Amino acid sequence: MPSLGLHRTVEDMRAEVAAWKADGLRVGLVPTMGALHAGHLSLIEAISKNADKVIVSIFVNPTQFAAHEDLSTYPRQEAADLAALETTKTDAVFAPTAAEMYPEGFSTAVTLDGPALGLESEERPHFFGGVALIVLKLLTQTQTDVAIFGEKDYQQLMVIRRMVADLNLPVEIMAGAIMREADGLAMSSRNVYLDAEQRKIAAQLNVILQQLANNPASAAQAEAEAKQALLEAGFTKVDYACIRDAQTLGVPDAKTVARRALIVARLGETRLLDNSPAI
Ligand code: PAF
Repeated sequence: MPSLGLHRTVEDMRAEVAAWKADGLRVGLVPTMGALHAGHLSLIEAISKNADKVIVSIFVNPTQFAAHEDLSTYPRQEAADLAALETTKTDAVFAPTAAEMYPEGFSTAVTLDGPALGLESEERPHFFGGVALIVLKLLTQTQTDVAIFGEKDYQQLMVIRRMVADLNLPVEIMAGAIMREADGLAMSSRNVYLDAEQRKIAAQLNVILQQLANNPASAAQAEAEAKQALLEAGFTKVDYACIRDAQTLGVPDAKTVARRALIVARLGETRLLDNSPAI
């Protein structure tokens, strides 16, 4: 039995948060879909330095998966996740059911613009609407003071920051640095889908990303070179390899103060994401 609090309902979760807040404690939230790896654990460690109590939510959110995507096969390992969390600075786990989050008759959606346009939305037009909806629910359900999101999903982080600013939500959004395997591959719950041959090719993603990020050629030239290098390395499809404005995720222009290189490339059915600050 875990010694950390495990809550299945919003009511139970809120009761624990209310008790913490009555004691004047600052609450932090790490939203996850489970299948926890070292990247998630680093988010817990980072937020624990900025909160007195840490909640980890585990919920595989159906509204961010399209009908043809991997919702039914997405890795689920709650017992292993809870055991892993026991060794961290987690105080409570919020692991609601789909019926708790989306009860019969649920009819509300979040509409997005700005950083949600393009990139991931080209391939997955449903995705950020689902993410924004569930994050908005988690933030209001837990009434957290601070929440953290990994920079690996950079566009997701920018969409959430924009939503929180636009809706004046009283929560601080922290960014967690990308955690990497020894060969540079960004940690992801979906890396388990890679076979041995694909796993070797996958290590080239970060190498090519760094070339793109530091390429002094024009953005168009650098992007074309990165795409070519990915295909030559053995990636089966390149969804995008591009340089964007780091805040708006639009094409860089005279107002751009920082640039970001972003790549999504596929090995078979598996999409691998990575990104880095760019010159
Ligand atoms: O990044 C994720 O794991 C998910 O998109 C999130 C933020 C937990 C929402 O389901």
